[in-house]
Amino acid sequence: MLDRMITAELGDDGRSGDPTVQELERVSAARLGKEAALFFPSGTMSNHAAILSHAVYKGEVIGEASSHIFRSEMGGLSLLAGLYPRPLPGHAGAMDLGALDACLRPPGVTDHVLGTAVVCMETTHAVGGAVLSLDHMRQVHEKSSQLGVPVHLDGARIFNAAIALDVAASTIAAFADSVTFCLSKGLSAPIGSVLTGPRPFIGRARGFRKMLGGNLRQAGLLAACGLVALEQSIERLADDHDNARRLADGLYGVDPHLVKPAEVATNMVMVHVGSNGADAEQWTRVLSDHGVLAAPVSKEILRFVTHRHVDAPSIERVVTVFREIYRSRPGVLFSN
Ligand SMILES: Cc1ncc(COP(=O)(O)O)c(C=O)c1O
Repeated sequence: MLDRMITAELGDDGRSGDPTVQELERVSAARLGKEAALFFPSGTMSNHAAILSHAVYKGEVIGEASSHIFRSEMGGLSLLAGLYPRPLPGHAGAMDLGALDACLRPPGVTDHVLGTAVVCMETTHAVGGAVLSLDHMRQVHEKSSQLGVPVHLDGARIFNAAIALDVAASTIAAFADSVTFCLSKGLSAPIGSVLTGPRPFIGRARGFRKMLGGNLRQAGLLAACGLVALEQSIERLADDHDNARRLADGLYGVDPHLVKPAEVATNMVMVHVGSNGADAEQWTRVLSDHGVLAAPVSKEILRFVTHRHVDAPSIERVVTVFREIYRSRPGVLFSN
C-alpha cells in the first residue's frame, strides 16, 4: 500500500478530479454491479450521504434495531436528513419481515402518517458478524420496491458476506439500490469507504459529501490503498473466518457457556463472559494487559474480531491466555 501511495497519480478530488480516486470508483462500481461510485473518508459519512441522497425530510428510515445506522451514527439520519428512525425487532441483524409489512408505507406524507423514506439493511452485522440470507434480502427489496421505497445496504463488510455465502458481492448488492462498503476493517486499508448506486444518485451524494465536509483534495493517496485492498485483501478474508471458528472452538473447550461456535459466520466471535464474576469491560482490560485486544459490546458480551494480523498460532495464544485468566477467576480480574 505504501508503494502504491508513492506512485499514485494525484489530482484534486474536490474539484477537477483525482485519477486514482476515479479508478477506485470505477473498480468499486464494477465489483458491486452498480453504475457509479463515490469515495468517502468513512463508512458513517457514506451512510449519511446515502440516506440524504435517497430522501431529505419527512419520512421514516426502517431497519433492524441493532443496526449501525441506529446505534452508532450519532442520530445523523434525524439531525442531518430530518428523517425519523423506525427500528424493527429482528434476529442476528435481520429485521422481522412481519414487522416490516406492518409499517412499510409508500414515501411521502398522508393526512396523518409519515411514509417510508428508506429501508436499510446491514451485512455482515457489525455486532456478531452474521450474514443476511439472500432470500431475506430479496424479500426486503421486493416489498420495498413494490411501494417505491429505496433500499440502502450498509455493506461495510459485504466482502465477508460474499465469502461466507460463496457468491459475488454484486449478487448481494443486487438486492439494494445503493450500497456502502468499507476499505478499512477486514480489507486493511487505513481509511476509506465507497458508496455505490445509480449515476444520478451518486451525483446527489457528491453534493452531500461536500456538505458533510468529506471532499478531500489529493485523496488518491488513500484511494491507492483502497485499490490494493480490493486487489489483494478479499480472497484472504476466508482465513479470518477460519481463525474466528478456531477461536470459537478453543473457547468452547474452555467452557461451553462462553460461546456458540455454530453462530460464528464470518470474522467475529461473541463471548459471553457475564457469569464469570467480572463484566466485559473488566475482561477487556485484563486481556489487554496480556496483549489480547477485544471489545465489550454489552456488560456481558465481548467481541473478538479476526483480521490480517491474527494468524492460527495467535489464536492458540489467545485461547491459552483466556483459559488461564478464566481459571484464576475472579481474583486476577478484580485485582486490576
Ligand atoms: C456495519 C457498519 N457500518 C458502518 C460503519 C462505519 O464505518 P466508519 O467507522 O468508517 O465510519 C461500521 C463501523 O464499524 C460498521 O460496522
